[in-house]
Amino acid sequence: MKILSVTSEIFPLIKTGGLADVTGSLPKALAGYNCYTRTLVPGYPTLFAKLTGAQQVHFFPDLFGAPASLLEARYEQLDLLILDAPALYNRPGGPYLDETGHDHVDNWKRFAVLSYVASAIAGGLIRAWSPDVVHTHDWQTALTSVYMKYSTNARNVPSVLTIHNLAFQGQFPTSVVSQIGLPPEAVSLDCLEYYGDISYLKGGIRTATAITTVSPTYAREVISPELGMGMAGALGSRPRALTGIVNGIDTEIWNPATDAHLPATYDHKSIRLRSRNRAKLLETFRLDNGPGPIFAAVTRLTWQKGGDMLAEVAEEISQLGGRLIVLGKGEEHIETALLAAAGRHPDRIGVRIGYDEVTAHLIHGGADVVIQPSRFEPCGLTQLYALRYGAVPVVSRTGGLSETIIDANDAAISARVATGFQFHPATSENLRLSIHRAFAAYHDPKKWARLQNQGMKANFSWERSAEQYAALYAQLIPDRRMMAI
Ligand code: ADP
Ligand code: GLC
Repeated sequence: MKILSVTSEIFPLIKTGGLADVTGSLPKALAGYNCYTRTLVPGYPTLFAKLTGAQQVHFFPDLFGAPASLLEARYEQLDLLILDAPALYNRPGGPYLDETGHDHVDNWKRFAVLSYVASAIAGGLIRAWSPDVVHTHDWQTALTSVYMKYSTNARNVPSVLTIHNLAFQGQFPTSVVSQIGLPPEAVSLDCLEYYGDISYLKGGIRTATAITTVSPTYAREVISPELGMGMAGALGSRPRALTGIVNGIDTEIWNPATDAHLPATYDHKSIRLRSRNRAKLLETFRLDNGPGPIFAAVTRLTWQKGGDMLAEVAEEISQLGGRLIVLGKGEEHIETALLAAAGRHPDRIGVRIGYDEVTAHLIHGGADVVIQPSRFEPCGLTQLYALRYGAVPVVSRTGGLSETIIDANDAAISARVATGFQFHPATSENLRLSIHRAFAAYHDPKKWARLQNQGMKANFSWERSAEQYAALYAQLIPDRRMMAI
């Protein structure tokens, strides 16, 4: 099967979060299931800085007001199609935000054009290669299936929309529709219309052949009023199209036995070697190297991730004899609160505001506990990296966190299946109680070793999930033939 994946980020070329991890690793895993993936991405400057030998496969003299090219290139095991549209992507800042941290003002156009080109590829733009299935991710590429619906050539190609995070919906004024080449009837209740505006994500939900979320639990949560974020109705109207497939992790990139970012590599049999990483981690954050567990978080510092709760429990961790390390970036008030806590306890609390892949690996390889107090979490990857690296996760029981971590209650401990600590609902008081549970377990070395060991042996590789995606794609393809008759 030939799959066109369409995404606004892909690891290791451009990443702001887990979306990139997934779009960068799923194609490799799918290759084992007879699925050959090409990925369409915007031609950001950071991408061109890393790529060599890109070849033009199509030239657009006037793509929504400016010339653009479609290029192809390989990067490691990824087969890429790159939309080189300088008017849209060649500028400073990140994929979504400008240098001052505000949304690029023309994001409505930047991602509409990407989606338009994806639908053109589905409709046969590249003679030598047309996909059997199109796979889109989040609001940035959700418009693809809307364009496909209105395209004579692409209409019968099946599409899968994966929702990684329902909080981001691509909401814009209705007036943009006439500027992105869609007919006025696309602004209807059963397509883009969303509380007087339009939503690209809603358009995708209404028009994609199948919809997935990144864990089965989140697939149930998104049709509830609490976590449906205004889309529960749209999603609930397509119950048979909606499923959940839990994310896997790239076990080559996240492998403590071979990780070049760690001073000491190890596996579950040589876990004592972690102490060297621990020492390096404490040195990096200039914390004192005494006994007691290191709690850590590698995260966007946002309301979703409960970044505020980290600030609220910081002092208590220090008073109980632990250390807290936070690597993250996000809302200013959370950053300020964390930096203030670190300022009060500079030898016990270390905070680095920023994004740093290498330090993220060191944290997983050296910290004892990884905290993730998310208010909602479609899947979550850091808890999976923590498990693999022998750091015990403390997580709120929501979305993917609830199904990937097994709480260390008495039954799970005696059955030897426990891998971490869960709390619910996500409040700082409940987080605090879990932190106390983690301290108690840490001071019981046999119990702690068992938790680490069970976590390291848990299998979160892509295999099973890739198989589920492959089965879903295969299921959709006969529909195409029937529709074509
Ligand atoms: P989300 O995509 O919602 O942010 P995930 O847990 O799915 O959450 O994925 C987050 C990814 O981003 C992980 O790979 C994590 O290691 C990485 N990450 C988040 N914040 C940072 C940071 N400050 N520095 C380095 N990596 C980070
Ligand atoms: C989103 C979600 C996160 C998920 C990631 C990759 O950013 O917030 O839970 O793991 O996408 O699917």
